[in-house]
Amino acid sequence: MSKQILCLPGDGIGPEIMTEALKVLDAVKQRFGLDIEVSHGLVGGAAIDKDGVPLSDETLVRAKSSDAILFGAVGGPEWDSQPMANRPEKGLLKLRSELDLFANLRPAILFPQLAEASSLKSELVAGLDILIVRELTGGIYFGEPRGVRTLENGEREGFNTYVYRESEVRRIAKVAFEAAQKRGGRLCSVDKSNVLEVTALWRDVVIEESGSYSDVELSHMYVDNAAMQLVRAPKQFDVMVTGNMFGDILSDCAAMLTGSIGMLPSASLNEKNQGMYEPVHGSAPDIAGENKANPLAQILSLAMLLRYSLGKGEVADAIEKAVSDVLDKGYRTGDIASEGCQLMGTVEMGDAVVGCLLNL
Ligand code: IPM
Ligand code: MG
Repeated sequence: MSKQILCLPGDGIGPEIMTEALKVLDAVKQRFGLDIEVSHGLVGGAAIDKDGVPLSDETLVRAKSSDAILFGAVGGPEWDSQPMANRPEKGLLKLRSELDLFANLRPAILFPQLAEASSLKSELVAGLDILIVRELTGGIYFGEPRGVRTLENGEREGFNTYVYRESEVRRIAKVAFEAAQKRGGRLCSVDKSNVLEVTALWRDVVIEESGSYSDVELSHMYVDNAAMQLVRAPKQFDVMVTGNMFGDILSDCAAMLTGSIGMLPSASLNEKNQGMYEPVHGSAPDIAGENKANPLAQILSLAMLLRYSLGKGEVADAIEKAVSDVLDKGYRTGDIASEGCQLMGTVEMGDAVVGCLLNL
């Protein structure tokens, strides 16, 4: 039976980079004879414009029945005035929560060709290979109660709830320990257990889980220190595991170490290995429609999709190699440009990856 991929390009640069990823998908279908069916849907602002909501029930049903979702990016100034409950980002958050995509894998790998593009000295980042495992369906992003209330004195007060159940910590810890076993054998759990009870529990549960993974060296770090260490000496990390909000922040930081957030893919998986794959970057409305966006994070997200949800590791390898080959040729979009490189647009970069895949 053919595998079903639902494609949700979203807003801003989302549709442009998705077009390039789909060209790459066509190329690998041809080269490897893959039986994959692609369907398309709307999410975020694009869905608000058409359906009035950032994710329609119909799209959600299709997402649930697909093997994997390739997601672009959501949001833009047009929808900033939407009430919080109907913002474009809610479409993404609803997909994560309804499909129970609790395990967010955000690798930060530096392609050696891009060492110069990093904001850190190249010796600090050469060979960088970190995996951030971010809990994605709990924590303060989803905690109740939440809202804005008016106090007796007429002043408004905003509030959110940072909450984690033991079972939620346990399942993400397992994913992180298993990832560490397959990689360098080291796991750093990031919390703020000196201040927040919820993360003190997080730390306790991670320590309990470590009993089943004696081959993994576990350490703990407060999130403020982790942010500092990421820009001071990032290569000390192998796998990092943390909650939803800290993971959001640290993964942007880690992304920048690799030269550009335009290079980083991510996978969000549930217990069934059904997954949603998206670039770590956002919809970049400032450059949307200008053929300037870097499509490589979207293309690398497709590679992760093939590896994790479709079990096609060799196809993923081929895509990753093609990306490395285009970098070797000196092809760069603006975000990763350096002296002497060949500056390209979104479409040309996608074509170059396809060219390398098909050895044109
Ligand atoms: C991310 C994004 C999202 C998040 C936004 C768009 C809701 O920043 O995937 O990192 O905060 O999780
Ligand atoms: Mg983010």
